[in-house]
Amino acid sequence: MTALLVLDNVSAGYVADIDILRGVSVKVAPGVITGLIGLNGAGKSTIMKTICGFLRPSSGLIMFDGADITGIAPHTVIDRSIFYIPQESSLFNFMSVEDNLRLPLEHLVRRADGLTRADIADRFEDTYAKFPVLKEKRRDKAGDLSGGQQKMVEFAKAYLVRPRLCLVDEPSIGLAPKVAEEVYQWIGLFASEQTAILLVDHNVRRVVKMSTYIYVLSLGEITAQGGPEAFAGDLHEQVKAWLGINF
Ligand SMILES: Nc1ncnc2c1ncn2[C@@H]1O[C@H](COP(=O)(O)OP(=O)(O)O)[C@@H](O)[C@H]1O
Ligand SMILES: [Mg+2]
Repeated sequence: MTALLVLDNVSAGYVADIDILRGVSVKVAPGVITGLIGLNGAGKSTIMKTICGFLRPSSGLIMFDGADITGIAPHTVIDRSIFYIPQESSLFNFMSVEDNLRLPLEHLVRRADGLTRADIADRFEDTYAKFPVLKEKRRDKAGDLSGGQQKMVEFAKAYLVRPRLCLVDEPSIGLAPKVAEEVYQWIGLFASEQTAILLVDHNVRRVVKMSTYIYVLSLGEITAQGGPEAFAGDLHEQVKAWLGINF
């Protein structure tokens, strides 16, 4: 497998001399889902933020599509075809749904090799076909939507960009189980269209089921990894052991 994204021995943290991530090595294959699981505070979101350049590693390398992107300026990750759906909302609540959806595209239009207005119109049509609720609500303020609908805007925004890699951090947190099911369907849709996904979700069983390869992060270190078959059987017992906890 030639990995699309490689974290090679990455250490990183929020303050000097205190590393939250300690020698993390992770590979994300193109076009499939890679899962990342671990307890609260293990450093999963820190991995996402480090990939996007919000944190600069104290050591180690991050490679994307063969290029070194270690410490990349966060606003330029989209130019590399990487899209980040953070755990918390990234929407502008006072702006309409459609204006929120349009924001990353406007950036891509301004590039020399960018999208044309016709491309954008096509993509909107396709996206509204996949997320019909958003077509109905396109003039509503994003802040007036329900939590599940706001998550839908986040995914539709990513879908419009057609990234090669989408980083998805705890997409189902705080959502009703039925809405969470929809979120997993959107992730499946992305993967079926060859977008690579790095997925963090507290629903460990679901992550294992959806992923081609899974990493377990404990206290900033990768403590286990493998295909879904390695996580079969008594998942609960195994995950307890992998996370290094007794309860
Ligand atoms: N902005 C921050 N400043 C300082 N420490 C942080 C910050 N964000 C997270 N941390 C710390 O980093 C560790 C990992 O957090 P995080 O990556 O959010 O974990 P996870 O996503 O796995 O729950 C935790 O100990 C947390 O307290
Ligand atoms: Mg987190």
